[in-house]
Amino acid sequence: MANVTFSSPLLPKDVTVYAVAGDTHTLLKVAQKNKIPLPFECEDGNCGSCVIEVVSLSDKPFMAQDLSEKERATLLAAGKLSKAEIEEAVVNDKPPRYRLACQYIVRDEDVLVKFSGEPGVV
Ligand code: FES
Repeated sequence: MANVTFSSPLLPKDVTVYAVAGDTHTLLKVAQKNKIPLPFECEDGNCGSCVIEVVSLSDKPFMAQDLSEKERATLLAAGKLSKAEIEEAVVNDKPPRYRLACQYIVRDEDVLVKFSGEPGVV
């Protein structure tokens, strides 16, 4: 289990939900299941409207996670990640600050997920 805390100006207060790590559900699906108003459009990593900031809340090292080619391209085009940050993620497994909720698979770690509520804006 992992605690996922959503924080947004759209929410009266932060909302923490429990997610089953490794069940291949994306963070967007976890948000939808818990009625978190996280913006989305394509649900396929193309539009960038579901961009989120992810902060680890656990004292363990942040878990690495592959960025797909599609997610890299979308975050790069949206100006959310630089080529250097993508290189760090790919070569050194350093998790990037920004992700796409429709591509992010919940891992066994507690995270804070920030979003503005405006599509494509964190
Ligand atoms: Fe389009 Fe996630 S909903 S990139």
